[in-house]
Amino acid sequence: MKFLRKGKVKNIYDIGDEKILFEYSDRISCFDVILNDTIPSKGEVLCRMGAFWFKTLDFPNHMVRIEKPNKMIVKKCEVIPMECVVRGYLYGSFYERVKKGKAKISSEPVLASKLPEIIFDPTTKFEKKDRVVSKTEVLEKKWLTGMEFEWLKRKSIELYKKMSEIVDKAGFILADVKFEFGRVNDKIILIDSVGPDEFRLWPKESYSPGKTQYAYDKQVVRDWLIKVGYKKSLDEARKKGMKIPEPPKLSEDIMNEARRRYIYVFEKITGKKF
Ligand SMILES: Nc1ncnc2c1ncn2[C@@H]1O[C@H](COP(=O)(O)OP(=O)(O)O)[C@@H](O)[C@H]1O
Ligand SMILES: [Mg+2]
Repeated sequence: MKFLRKGKVKNIYDIGDEKILFEYSDRISCFDVILNDTIPSKGEVLCRMGAFWFKTLDFPNHMVRIEKPNKMIVKKCEVIPMECVVRGYLYGSFYERVKKGKAKISSEPVLASKLPEIIFDPTTKFEKKDRVVSKTEVLEKKWLTGMEFEWLKRKSIELYKKMSEIVDKAGFILADVKFEFGRVNDKIILIDSVGPDEFRLWPKESYSPGKTQYAYDKQVVRDWLIKVGYKKSLDEARKKGMKIPEPPKLSEDIMNEARRRYIYVFEKITGKKF
């Protein structure tokens, strides 16, 4: 077994025989900083959540099997260097682009409002920072053929719609999602992970356009980091180009509440007991 990389959440190993092992850790990152504390069971929740989506979404994917509690074995693929982002709501970097006139929509640009139509908004992968990429560039770089691009666009939107219906029944809005695809034996399949690091999920009951929406699971931790002043010192350090300050130790209460929320979302969406 060969260690390949440590992502923000997953540890990735090559286990030979054209297979890769994803180990979902309990690590949590907030404001792009990996905290020193972990959220118990988080890795297991994300692993089982990913497995749920692979089983539920009617699309060929890389999952081979789960090794309980928090490992997934997948087929090794040639990764297509484009992240297939699908958006149903005006939020995040897309909102910024619309505000700056770099992207156009046919409705009023209200933060977190539902878009008049679902959009496919692909970005690069394997570059320092993800950037929006056009179909023309994708074809020029020969990442995909024109037909493949159109097919992935259609399929990504279909996947988004299917996921939206499922989370809607559980009381959530799927604001946007990112899919990755890979090639194996001349076939394009869904790879990587599908979970809270790849999508934005908002509770319907607190949804209200025109303001920042809250991610149900991580928000308790974010709020606490703001309350204890960490966010402020982080922003200052970043502005001055200084070293990122050491994140404070999470209290037991916060860790437990975050754990409870991850499990709640898992149970609501999958209909399974954790
Ligand atoms: N089936 C696969 N074959 C090869 N590489 C894959 C496969 N599935 C996902 N990957 C790649 O593995 C990497 C996962 O790492 P990363 O996203 O950084 O982890 P994390 O989400 O924990 O931060 C990504 O670069 C992704 O493209
Ligand atoms: Mg990732």
